[in-house]
Amino acid sequence: MPIRLRKLHPLIGAEVTGVDLAGPLDQATVEAVRNAWSRYGVLLFRRQPITDEQQVAFSRHFGSLEIFPQAANRSQAVPEIFRVTNVGDDNRIRPVDSPGGRYSTLIWVWHTDSSYRRVPSKGAVLHAIEVVSKGGDTLFANMCHAYRQMPAELKARIAGLRARHSFQYSRQLRQLPPMDPAEAARVPPVDHPLVRRLRDGRLSLYVSATYMERILGLSEGESRKLIDELMAWATQDAFVFRHRWHPHDVLMWDNRWCIHVVTPFDHSAERRVMHRTTIAGIEPVEG
Ligand SMILES: [Fe+2]
Repeated sequence: MPIRLRKLHPLIGAEVTGVDLAGPLDQATVEAVRNAWSRYGVLLFRRQPITDEQQVAFSRHFGSLEIFPQAANRSQAVPEIFRVTNVGDDNRIRPVDSPGGRYSTLIWVWHTDSSYRRVPSKGAVLHAIEVVSKGGDTLFANMCHAYRQMPAELKARIAGLRARHSFQYSRQLRQLPPMDPAEAARVPPVDHPLVRRLRDGRLSLYVSATYMERILGLSEGESRKLIDELMAWATQDAFVFRHRWHPHDVLMWDNRWCIHVVTPFDHSAERRVMHRTTIAGIEPVEG
């Protein structure tokens, strides 16, 4: 059966029906999903109560999978599953002031996943298992559109600039201690251009506030000011699609030209459990 698509926002996102992610999927269906993913940036599949193993199998159709650098956030049974949650391994809500509780709120900052890698991820698949009653929405913004619409003056100011992305920096944002040295050694800071040339020739603003420590060649103050200005431009309301989660929604997004954020929720009282697989990129970020 062919898949059906329904646009979710003028600039980004489509809902896909006619696919059972529990699989197996034939080659034509995989191809259709791949095409829709590259065209719309974000795909929504509703009512998909998949297991972790099924999520891994579905995600592998689109590339090899990353393993998250911090063991504390990985599923012990299925290491390709990154647990995006405020619930600990003991199945209780993490105290908000504990390291795990503080770490879980980093998703409230706009980013593209794994921009701290030399070859950042191509995309991600996120399965909602437990959702909250208020807040906890995921917002997405189209960075090709953000760059295309950017005032010429700002485009000229960022031409040729590069930013440093760092996993350690994301931990500093939440006053967390330095990570385990062996884990840190696997994710040293990397530099990426602010304007990314995609394989199809389109240009995209490549920004990720969670990991973007500074812009190279600028003073600390200028760097912070420019990062704030770019994030404000990139995430203006008109560019943003909002997804309100229901259990067993699955969202799949392109990390090369889409950024996302989660709206705050009462993480001291409500459980939010999502499982993510992360599809590894195949090329460095080119300017
Ligand atoms: Fe993310």
